[in-house]
Amino acid sequence: MEKKTVVLPTLFVVMFLAVIGSSVLFYYFGLSNAVCHNGTSSSTQVPSTEAAILIENNRTVPYHHGRLPRHLKPVLYKIEVFPNIYLKNPDQFSFVGKMWLQFQCLEQGNNITLNVDQLKIADIEVGRLNTSQGLIQVLNFAVDTEWQFLTIFINQDFLPGNNYYVEINYNGPLKSDYTGLYVSTIPHRTRNQHVAATQFSPTDARKAFPCFDEPDRKARFEITIIRRADMVSLSNMPKDSERRLMSGAFVADAYQTSPVMSTYLVAFAVGDLSSLSIEATSVLNFTSWASIENIDKTRAMVEFGANVLKFYEGHFEIPFPLPKQDMLVVPETAVGAMENWGLIIFKEDRICYDDRYYSEFAWMDAMTTVAHELAHQWFGNLATPNWWGNLFLKEAFATYFELVAMQNVLVAAVNSSDYYNFPDYFTINTMHPIFETDGLMTSHPVHMSLSDSTEIKQVFDSISYLKGASLIRMMEFFLGPSHFLNGLKLYLQRYEYSNADHDGFFASMESDPKGSPNVGEIMRTWVLQPNYPVVHVTQIRPGYLRITQSRFLNDLTKTNTTNSTNEKLRWTIPFTYTTDVEANFTVSNSKIIWLEREETFIIDKGLPDLTRDGHWLIGNVQQKGYYRVNYGPDIWGHIAQYLIYDHSRIHKLNRAQIINDAFSLSKAKLMPLETALSLFEYLLFEDDYVPWSAAISELKTIARLVHATPLDSKFKIFANNVIKYALVNSANSQGTFSNKLLYAKLFAIGCKFLNPSCVTNSRAWYGAFRERVIPLPLNIRPAILCTVMKRANVSEWEFIVGRYNASLNTDERQAYLYGMTCAEDPAVQDRLIRLTQDSSTMKGPEAVRALTDLAANPTAIDKVWNHLTTNWCHFLERFAGSLFQLSRLVSGVTAEFTTHEQVADLKNFLARTSNLGTARRAFEQGLEAARDNARWVEAHYETLNTWLYTMLAKHELVFA
Ligand SMILES: *[C@@H]1O[C@H](CO)[C@@H](O)[C@H](O)[C@H]1NC(C)=O
Ligand SMILES: *[C@@H]1O[C@H](CO)[C@@H](O)[C@H](O)[C@H]1NC(C)=O
Ligand SMILES: *[C@@H]1O[C@H](CO)[C@@H](O)[C@H](O)[C@H]1NC(C)=O
Ligand SMILES: *[C@@H]1O[C@H](CO)[C@@H](O)[C@H](O)[C@H]1NC(C)=O
Ligand SMILES: [Zn+2]
Repeated sequence: MEKKTVVLPTLFVVMFLAVIGSSVLFYYFGLSNAVCHNGTSSSTQVPSTEAAILIENNRTVPYHHGRLPRHLKPVLYKIEVFPNIYLKNPDQFSFVGKMWLQFQCLEQGNNITLNVDQLKIADIEVGRLNTSQGLIQVLNFAVDTEWQFLTIFINQDFLPGNNYYVEINYNGPLKSDYTGLYVSTIPHRTRNQHVAATQFSPTDARKAFPCFDEPDRKARFEITIIRRADMVSLSNMPKDSERRLMSGAFVADAYQTSPVMSTYLVAFAVGDLSSLSIEATSVLNFTSWASIENIDKTRAMVEFGANVLKFYEGHFEIPFPLPKQDMLVVPETAVGAMENWGLIIFKEDRICYDDRYYSEFAWMDAMTTVAHELAHQWFGNLATPNWWGNLFLKEAFATYFELVAMQNVLVAAVNSSDYYNFPDYFTINTMHPIFETDGLMTSHPVHMSLSDSTEIKQVFDSISYLKGASLIRMMEFFLGPSHFLNGLKLYLQRYEYSNADHDGFFASMESDPKGSPNVGEIMRTWVLQPNYPVVHVTQIRPGYLRITQSRFLNDLTKTNTTNSTNEKLRWTIPFTYTTDVEANFTVSNSKIIWLEREETFIIDKGLPDLTRDGHWLIGNVQQKGYYRVNYGPDIWGHIAQYLIYDHSRIHKLNRAQIINDAFSLSKAKLMPLETALSLFEYLLFEDDYVPWSAAISELKTIARLVHATPLDSKFKIFANNVIKYALVNSANSQGTFSNKLLYAKLFAIGCKFLNPSCVTNSRAWYGAFRERVIPLPLNIRPAILCTVMKRANVSEWEFIVGRYNASLNTDERQAYLYGMTCAEDPAVQDRLIRLTQDSSTMKGPEAVRALTDLAANPTAIDKVWNHLTTNWCHFLERFAGSLFQLSRLVSGVTAEFTTHEQVADLKNFLARTSNLGTARRAFEQGLEAARDNARWVEAHYETLNTWLYTMLAKHELVFA
């Protein structure tokens, strides 16, 4: 558009003022103390505007749910932004912008309603783009700060079918709040340390430019970024041209026009960045951008990412739609990574990796993140959910494909299918954790109807991600792999450059000509209802089974106390089983028995008599379905016996399932705790990572539940006995990748249970490290530091803090930080808490991790809770706007509550605190979980006591 030439001079002047730091133009009202003043209410409202802004009519726009009216359709945005990160004082950083938008009128109306947040509008121009061009008079405009609307009223009506434009000059604050356009700071630098970057998802594009900020208001974007000549700028698309400004001191980088896309995926950045590029395909370069300090640590993930991208291109049979793919690393972000189309932005610790200095856990984290964000380039960026209530339509796929992509890429790289088994980790990493959350009364359906746009940020919880992914895996199973993949391809083709809802997705999955189950009917039972079922199997007589389903809740007593909401939920369940007769754990969807009703009878002549010793049946083969399985006492007993006799005949995923189901069922009082505990016995023979992971979780949980009781030390001795053979075996075995992980996990938990060899080895390694700076073994570095720091005094703490501060390696920093949280000395704990408050040394996410880890230290939980509640308003401020931190903090701390006193404290706090910010749901769930914990301890204390007594007597013989 020729418009551009007219506009630059204004932007230029403003920019010039910005460069010299005019304080008149760049005064911003911060959010700083808004929530901490006494008497002010909950919301983080921006005070209304300054004199510069003309508001004649402060209407509160009464749109339902905070949604935009839909009479105008955005077509093309041209956005120019100058982030001014060149002033001495970062508090004065700000940006200047111009947004030009072409839109089409669909229905007559006298206004343009856009989203804005925290922007100062300098001027507005509206005009026609059709045959009769010309300006349209703007009567006035209003900014509704609560619903974040900018409504511009004109002196006539827009007419359907016609094209118009609106141009807005504005400016906004540039803060380190990691939302909208923000500043992140490269540590240990004194110059060029600031990076301006964006995080628009879900609703913060409006903080960087006025826009129709809803995922289905797709348009094309033409972005121009102004930067100082020695800086680099980036955006979603490749650069088109550069224009020198101010005798070459500044440069305007104009980027190519993007395809049609959602506002939340727009991204740009400016900073002193280096790059590393490889040719992923003949038509596509894959490049990482990072500070010079970090750029070499991105090499591993650039190579991995390029391979993942090629894998997805082949798998989905849709070429990557953009001409380039960049991965930008910034030191701090609010989320681990954001999938902006063509410009994925990563927090440093989610992508940096170097096999010499980082653990293999860090490696897996990085690969998982890269594979996740790249999957979004198709699921989310190309085909987008129509609204945030359907967030799972992108997150479920991205989460599901993480392990699939890793396996495909790595197996191809090592040319062996035995060494890596990533898809085996799905149930232990994804399904078991979400079973726990989704077993709460306060859980919610995967698809949420948001009553209000302010609830959007709350849908970003693990349900959309982890339950969503578990349901995708279940669909792959019941549809069969090829039908599933064809359905996905069809879905992507149907909705590319467009938006879908869940019914559209299900319909695509049904279109296989070979005839398919009614996907929509089945999946709506899983997606629209909260929680999940437990299937109960009993033998009526040999060859004749009774199968029932009911809603599973972690604490089933609640179903009785909440009758009104307890309508009977039913799911359509793809049930499978095998027995000792064939022990066939290879699954195929031809074996599915669909359970729809509350009760189903199965007649199977091939069934053994399950009342007789040695005969068992195991349901949910390879745990492909999102449900638990319970059995009559005979069957449980036979399974436990058989595991001791020959566990290798039972699939490892089912061994993990059995452990996870049994403990959860016993917590829900659906089976006696003794039955679950009896499963620990076979672990003396177990050597696989997957079932061990499930078992370690249960051992940790019980240890946490009993730590405040006299059973604490007895349980530790018992647990130590259970793991000690596997620890020795895994230390000596050279087996698979899983084996390395197993050793690290057993070592860590062994140290917690005061296993003598863990403790001695930790001290020895630490001694060598302290005296001769010999590096600690990477995978067990956190466990070693934790073990040593437990007894550390202030001077040892000073040493570790020094190392922590000096380290540029995020994996190493995390290990030091984790080590510090194990300290039992109250003086050390106080210092750590003070350190978490200092946002210059410890960024938000690190502080959250430190505090939740410290809460897991039994000697510090009360201190952490006290700190959290007395400073609650400061936490609200610090994490306002960031998606997960506050709820992570709250869930992490409350998860450690196991006594009635702690529950009472929590209730008390909730009763006197009106503003819980984005952590409201986390608090509700935390309270429920804490109550469950306290009740569990009360109910099972005696059983556990007796059982431990017996076991220890028995083990004394076994372990003599
Ligand atoms: C807020 O109110 C409480 C009790 O009403 C008082 O103790 C506290 O000092 C007040 N804080 C501020 C910042 O005014
Ligand atoms: C708009 O709000 C300002 C500040 O609250 C108030 O002073 C002014 O009277 C309001 N104008 C109208 C037209 O309501
Ligand atoms: C803007 O126009 C649309 C379409 O006519 C209408 O639905 C909406 O209520 C108007 N908004 C305001 C604040 O008048
Ligand atoms: C990839 O980068 C190289 C080197 O900068 C360049 O020559 C080549 O044209 C690029 N390829 C594509 C497809 O953009
Ligand atoms: Zn995602």
